[in-house]
Amino acid sequence: MEFQNKTAVITGGASGIGFLSAKCLAQEGANVLLVDINENALVEKVAEINAKNVGKAEYAVCDVRQYEQVLDATDKAIEKFGRIDILINCAGGCERRCNNYQGDWLDMPAEIFDWGVDVNLKGPYYFSQAVMRQMVKQKSGVIIYLGSICGEEATLSMAYSVSKAGLMNALTKSVAIYGAPHNVRAVCVSPGPVLTREAMGKLKTLVGRAAETQEIVDFILYLASDRAAFITGSNHFIDGGRIAMTRG
Ligand SMILES: NC(=O)c1ccc[n+]([C@@H]2O[C@H](COP(=O)([O-])OP(=O)(O)OC[C@H]3O[C@@H](n4cnc5c(N)ncnc54)[C@H](O)[C@@H]3O)[C@@H](O)[C@H]2O)c1
Repeated sequence: MEFQNKTAVITGGASGIGFLSAKCLAQEGANVLLVDINENALVEKVAEINAKNVGKAEYAVCDVRQYEQVLDATDKAIEKFGRIDILINCAGGCERRCNNYQGDWLDMPAEIFDWGVDVNLKGPYYFSQAVMRQMVKQKSGVIIYLGSICGEEATLSMAYSVSKAGLMNALTKSVAIYGAPHNVRAVCVSPGPVLTREAMGKLKTLVGRAAETQEIVDFILYLASDRAAFITGSNHFIDGGRIAMTRG
């Protein structure tokens, strides 16, 4: 019951790393607000958590690109649970895959780049600011970002790569500096390939496989816990040695 009496807001909470994080936090006693654009999945996943766990789950339909919706979701967490202790920014995705674009970069419409930066960088920025207001009042909290090896290796999905690089470096550090006097930490977890999608199994790592989603979530929960009180302002690869392999 490491997270009893705590509240977590998890963006991208209807799927993958976000949903499993929410479920594991609720197993450890936390109340969780799942935030996503996919309402059908939210309804299903919240029911799954509430059927089995100690912590309670609620959801907010919210597009992280829309500032007013981010404020509404933050207000909902406070209204339902009274506080916000943990923010996990999982909503994200590669602009090429999510917009089904397979063409050359030179032909790529600007809207696809904008989508990638808005979801992967602006959304976490909006949520950090909205949630920080509450954490400052509480004088405690932790904000977790999901970076990626793509923010270090770079790819032709440039919106994804530059956005993840922004989270992993400037945003995590900046939010940590702002939060420190208020006892609020900010950290970034940057996975290599994770088996939330089968295709990720094809990417090479030193360990010779992709990560199970649970392996990433275990690390996120550690960073969210008071055991990680000394960790702030830093990016942490969890990549099976992929960066060591490709960058030396
Ligand atoms: N899976 C991997 O191999 C991997 C590797 C490195 C980093 N990551 C990062 O980890 C995070 C989670 O990845 P995942 O594989 O669990 O993803 P996923 O695709 O399973 O889940 C992403 C969720 O975000 C939601 N979402 C998308 N756009 C949104 C928006 N505008 N507003 C609100 N919600 C929105 C989707 O509906 C979905 O439920 C992402 O940020 C991803 O970039 C994943």
